[in-house]
Amino acid sequence: MSNNAEIAALASHVLVSNYRQAPIALVRGQGAEVWDADGRRYLDLYAGIAVSTLGHAHPQLVRAIADQAAAILHTTNLVYNEPSVRLAERLVSYTRPSPEAAPLLSRAFFCNSGTEAIEACVKLSRRRAFLAGENKRTRFLAFHNAFHGRSMGALALTGTPKYWEGFGADVERATHVAYGDLDAVQVALDTKPGEYCAIVVEPVQGEGGVFPAPPGFLRELRSLADAHGALLIVDEVQTGIGRTGRWYGYQQHEGVVPDAIALAKGLGGGVPVGAMLVREQLNGVLTPGSHGSTFGGNPLATSAALAVLEVMEHEKLVQRASAMGEHLAARLRDVAARHPDIFEGERGLGLLRGMLMRPGVEARTMLVAARAKGVLLSVASERVLRFTPPLNIPVELLDEAIEAIDAAAASLTAPVSESTLPSR
Ligand SMILES: Cc1ncc(COP(=O)(O)O)c(C=O)c1O
Repeated sequence: MSNNAEIAALASHVLVSNYRQAPIALVRGQGAEVWDADGRRYLDLYAGIAVSTLGHAHPQLVRAIADQAAAILHTTNLVYNEPSVRLAERLVSYTRPSPEAAPLLSRAFFCNSGTEAIEACVKLSRRRAFLAGENKRTRFLAFHNAFHGRSMGALALTGTPKYWEGFGADVERATHVAYGDLDAVQVALDTKPGEYCAIVVEPVQGEGGVFPAPPGFLRELRSLADAHGALLIVDEVQTGIGRTGRWYGYQQHEGVVPDAIALAKGLGGGVPVGAMLVREQLNGVLTPGSHGSTFGGNPLATSAALAVLEVMEHEKLVQRASAMGEHLAARLRDVAARHPDIFEGERGLGLLRGMLMRPGVEARTMLVAARAKGVLLSVASERVLRFTPPLNIPVELLDEAIEAIDAAAASLTAPVSESTLPSR
């Protein structure tokens, strides 16, 4: 087998250079531990950016994938396959306000990524207005620093110009305002009455810097969307599937029922699968032929997702994400207090947490220092070091990782570079 350096050298010739990649190749994982091609062990505190919900090589997930591969890998959407139907049933059941109540979001559409789940929401929103004869209602309201994906449709919603510059994205059809600023939302909606088909929002801005929605924000967005005839789309790609300590992040907010949510990342535990869940009234907007996906709802991906959800239910990982999130937050606050020249503090929900860097210290510098101490993390915006560990990470490994991060912070003697990002 090749080592890290050989793999990186080959990659530099054959891969499109659109990623900034660490000079390691991961070859194996077990729970929250992974090993690189040189045999070095790391604690995985990013879990593929909120993807490896059960950590690595969970036996039940491995078995589900192997069994399904041996039975049938692909069927097309020209016929039914049971895992996708069972998965839809389970995902919508998590939107029941009580065990006896009907699901608030009752239908699922499957795709292969977060971007595609958002794309489906974009098409749903516009098509619904079109079918109602409202041809002017094509505009979206989204937020600065939002991240919704990189397809031409999703790009227009993503609220950071560096992602869409030069691509000719449909940004004129989206208005971005400050996250949390209800007055700005109101003004935007009032300025173009009858033009907005949807408001699109993350319950916690993930890529934008692990920024939880202020209390009441989503509820007010719901009212404003209703008052202006727009849908409320909640992007749960990063926050969904238990990450914040509820099945879906919007459930942190009393009285909010979205019209649709987008899911992906943690849903397949590492197998690519995305989903859009919608309210019953919106079923029928996407008619046969108007939208679809070759791979979407594929039995391999949906069996994997079902296994993830079964383990999560059995091991009560949603509740655990909440309790473990509090533990992680307390430990991170401690580390921040011990290194006030590096960190400004921590924020987040459940096991989606960020450490805010002091101006002048780049999160990437801490990321590299942590990796040198054997901990894998990601950054969210240039100023936030992001923690998205597996939801079943043992507390001993989490604590071991925090010790290593503390040592990594101590190894950074002085602020290392000027940050050009404005503080939020
Ligand atoms: C909130 C949110 N929406 C959408 C996406 C896009 O998902 P994907 O990369 O699976 O296409 C991401 C990815 O980071 C995300 O965090």
